[in-house]
Amino acid sequence: MADRSSVPSAPDRPGELVLRGGTVVDRTGSRRADVRVVEGTVAEVAEGIAPGPGATVLDAGGCLVTPGFVDLHTHLREPGREEAETVETGTRAAALGGYTAVVAMPNTEPALDSAESVRNIYALAQGALAEVAVAGAITVGRAGERLAPMAELAALGVRLFTDDGDGVQSAGLMRRALQYATDLGVTLAQHCEDKSLAAGGVMHEGAWSSRLGLPGQPAEAEEVMVARDIALARATGGRVHFLHLSTAGSVDLVRRARAEGVPVTAEVAPHHFTLTDACACGFDPVFKVNPPLRTDADVAAVKAALADGTADAIATDHAPHAPELKDLPFDQAPPGMLGLQTAFALAVTELDLPVERIVALLSWQPAAIARLDAASGGVHGGDVAPGRPANLAVVDPAATWVVDPAALASRSRNTPYAGRTLTGRVRHTVLAGEPVVVDAEAQR
Ligand code: DOR
Repeated sequence: MADRSSVPSAPDRPGELVLRGGTVVDRTGSRRADVRVVEGTVAEVAEGIAPGPGATVLDAGGCLVTPGFVDLHTHLREPGREEAETVETGTRAAALGGYTAVVAMPNTEPALDSAESVRNIYALAQGALAEVAVAGAITVGRAGERLAPMAELAALGVRLFTDDGDGVQSAGLMRRALQYATDLGVTLAQHCEDKSLAAGGVMHEGAWSSRLGLPGQPAEAEEVMVARDIALARATGGRVHFLHLSTAGSVDLVRRARAEGVPVTAEVAPHHFTLTDACACGFDPVFKVNPPLRTDADVAAVKAALADGTADAIATDHAPHAPELKDLPFDQAPPGMLGLQTAFALAVTELDLPVERIVALLSWQPAAIARLDAASGGVHGGDVAPGRPANLAVVDPAATWVVDPAALASRSRNTPYAGRTLTGRVRHTVLAGEPVVVDAEAQR
């Protein structure tokens, strides 16, 4: 883990912590148990643990005690757009959302396409409330023209590469990148958007875009790139992770590719299983996002993909934007919406899935894709068992709350869920043994 993490160093770690009265949920199943954490490590998982002298005791009654969540898709905006978010504010929002690790997207200014830029993020993330892993750019400046120094970045621990915000338009360049990625043992994460089809579209192309008179992006703008990259993954053996899939056609392509054994994985974002293109009817740019909100049928398909395992992860695409930009007219405002503090609750509220499945989609499955899990030498998404690093979320699946944009930790306010009552609340978050969120309040 030498270079790649921002895990707090040992002196920051508290002595003993007991999480009392919860139900432990991890890959092995669920059971009623207290959890004792000592010096950053899970020391005991059993019913009726007696806290040692001076121990911090947190109530987990009615809650699930799970491995901390891992977000594959967070825009932290630093460097370059600190008025929208910083590593500090974004990781605070992450911790409040139950995340102990986030993958920072490289579409910063400048882009994260060099060893220096990656080291800068690691430095900014020292002492942050969540570990920050970096997704490096596939191409220099995310310009889609020549490959970034992927080997140098991989040597710093970068395991995911993406030009997110844009897809790699050239199939030839993508194939070459996949060949390098295979040699380096890293994964390419694709933002599937064919510019020649999407160009100028500010929402989904369909009945609503016609009615509103707004230019649309057709579903095929996403699907042709999914199909292309499946073909390239099949040909090269390189691993492709599909970011924020949003259409029925895309998830169907991935379902069939996986059945064939093509090495692809996929994530979906909460807004794509909770909102549709009809939300644009009032021209409120808070509902503008890329890929755009789609139809009811697409939402149903995305939910089905989460249910049948075609989608491996729920990823937020947390995309803060400052009000002076996000309040521009719909066609001019930047795409993107906040996600870190609402993801768990949206999943519990809107998905007809057992909460244990939701936790898998938020925790160990994305941890494996990001290679932040124990199998890759990481400390996230692992079982809640003695000897394991104490990166944990304590979540109440029955608590309800109302989304108040002003109360969010992000520097930005662009949540489309303002005023919505949601079920499912993050109560405590434990990072390397330290309770960084207690009773839904960040501790520093
Ligand atoms: O809506 C989006 N916003 N989609 C993206 O791919 C990029 C993101 C951003 O950076 O704002």
